[in-house]
Amino acid sequence: MCGIVGAAASRDVVPFLVDGLKRLEYRGYDSAGIAVVAGEDVRRVRRTGRVSELEAAAAAEGLHAPLGIGHTRWATHGGVTESNAHPHISVGELALVHNGIIENHEQQRQRLQALGYAFESQTDTEVVAHLIHHYRAQGASLLGALQRAVKELHGAYALAVIDRRDPGVLVAARMGCPLLVGLGEGENFVASDVSAIVSATRRVIYLEEGDTAQVTRDAVQVYDAGDAPVVREVHVSDVSLASLELGPYRHFMQKEIHEQPRALGDTLEGIVDAGGFDPALFGKDAAEVLADVESVQILACGTSYYAGLVARYWIEAIAGLPCAVDIASEYRYRPVAATARQLVVTISQSGETLDTLEALKYAGSLGLVRTLAICNVPESAIPRASRLVFYTRAGAEIGVASTKAFTTQLVALFALTCVLARLRGRIDAAQEAAYLDELRHLPGSVQHALNLEPQIALWAEQFAPRQHALFLGRGMHYPIALEGALKLKEISYIHAEGYPAGELKHGPLALVDEQMPVVVIAPNDALLEKVKSNIQEVRARGGQMYVFADADSHFGPSEQVQVIRTPRHVGTLSPIVHAIPVQLLAYHVALARGTDVDKPRNLAKSVTVE
Ligand code: F6R
Repeated sequence: MCGIVGAAASRDVVPFLVDGLKRLEYRGYDSAGIAVVAGEDVRRVRRTGRVSELEAAAAAEGLHAPLGIGHTRWATHGGVTESNAHPHISVGELALVHNGIIENHEQQRQRLQALGYAFESQTDTEVVAHLIHHYRAQGASLLGALQRAVKELHGAYALAVIDRRDPGVLVAARMGCPLLVGLGEGENFVASDVSAIVSATRRVIYLEEGDTAQVTRDAVQVYDAGDAPVVREVHVSDVSLASLELGPYRHFMQKEIHEQPRALGDTLEGIVDAGGFDPALFGKDAAEVLADVESVQILACGTSYYAGLVARYWIEAIAGLPCAVDIASEYRYRPVAATARQLVVTISQSGETLDTLEALKYAGSLGLVRTLAICNVPESAIPRASRLVFYTRAGAEIGVASTKAFTTQLVALFALTCVLARLRGRIDAAQEAAYLDELRHLPGSVQHALNLEPQIALWAEQFAPRQHALFLGRGMHYPIALEGALKLKEISYIHAEGYPAGELKHGPLALVDEQMPVVVIAPNDALLEKVKSNIQEVRARGGQMYVFADADSHFGPSEQVQVIRTPRHVGTLSPIVHAIPVQLLAYHVALARGTDVDKPRNLAKSVTVE
């Protein structure tokens, strides 16, 4: 959702801010703005719509300065208007950008209005600008005013502030929303996401909860929640500029689908290097935390939730542990009968999804302290709030529709299953070696599935004019049917539903006619014959079937039934391989329909609000 970038330098930072905002576009936004301190003035440009429009406006207004802040906004409080876009300015002196939500903004607004401040927007953010200005007017430094103001805010924020009276100073604060400081050569930065500053530096300090920071072009000082100076670790981010560029691809989603053999290989590296399913893969004290676990509770949203649904089959079948999977936004508001020795696993590509974070906190409030995060973004909120962590190594995922994050999450969850199984004596060395071998072959099988793209693109032409589609799967491929339906609906806007194939005659069969394409995931596993019967049910009602069948299943096409042969059945890891064709199908249908594949309407990459 919203994004922040700021810079203190000796060069003109406007092009850098615009470039940073472009790199934040993938998160989803509806307006953007920048403010700079130029000479003795604060100057600002804001636009609804794309950053490219903001760029043109900044050029037209001749905006140049060595200090500035920028923002992409996803509207929450107040509509999508220029006056609601950030930065917000207080009394022509101080400009501020904000990610998050200020819960007590109404009380603060009344108080500040009584003090004479005039409001120009309907946002919760503007109160923060005036509050900081109010404390400055009482004699505080810019940093001191920020530190006083944030103590009066309830809610979540990442803030960056500049003031015309402090031409070289940028101050920042973090609570509940990510914010980092980038360390350059003779210039320093702030950003909500490392991708915004990676063109200048990969050396970053992740601010901790309650931290504030003062950033100038040659110095950075961080303060903890008690306002004491503190030294925070400097990390070198592994996000590369190349990973943020499209290269030869048309869309990031296409690039990310094709990156999966590499992403899986990188994620597997630690597991294979460890020579087995060592609990230490999940953190130093994982052996102790996982040893006496009696059940597993998985919490996640969207595609990450579907990864959890696949994992349930593995965890129950291989580790022999009861496993529940909940949508985070449901779990966090329901009375839960918690069992003490339960492992709570959160899955999140971004590590920022508010519902997942809050569900994790709720689990903590129930006394569930064995927590593990599976996440793709280092130092994000969810892993920071968890005892154990596994970082998938998918690399930056820019397309809103999750692809490589999903398959790498599945690898992490499979490794977790095997670790739990080993700790419980459910697998021996030979079985462990066999699973490791399956993992080693996974990138190759995924590459085979990617090679199906031309055939899938032909199917996509047939899908493109449709209004509805059904996806069917059974067992651990049922979540892949759900994922296929989600991918299709979010980027092509075709209404799609995923069903366990056995449920067909309990309702959805009524929808089937010759206008309804039905996609079937038909791996060569113990349920294949059942799936074939389900296919006959659809065929008898005139439905058009599109079947992804393993090469060794001898599943042939017939009237109304088209078949694409996926690689030979890969056993337990089959859901990972079968995820690829449904991703490709969604991508090519979206392409044929001409939608904005990487930025589908109404969606954001990281969902930091409820
Ligand atoms: C769908 C998709 C979303 C996310 C969901 C959770 O393609 O990307 O459904 O999976 O918003 O996001 P994370 O994994 O960042 O918590």
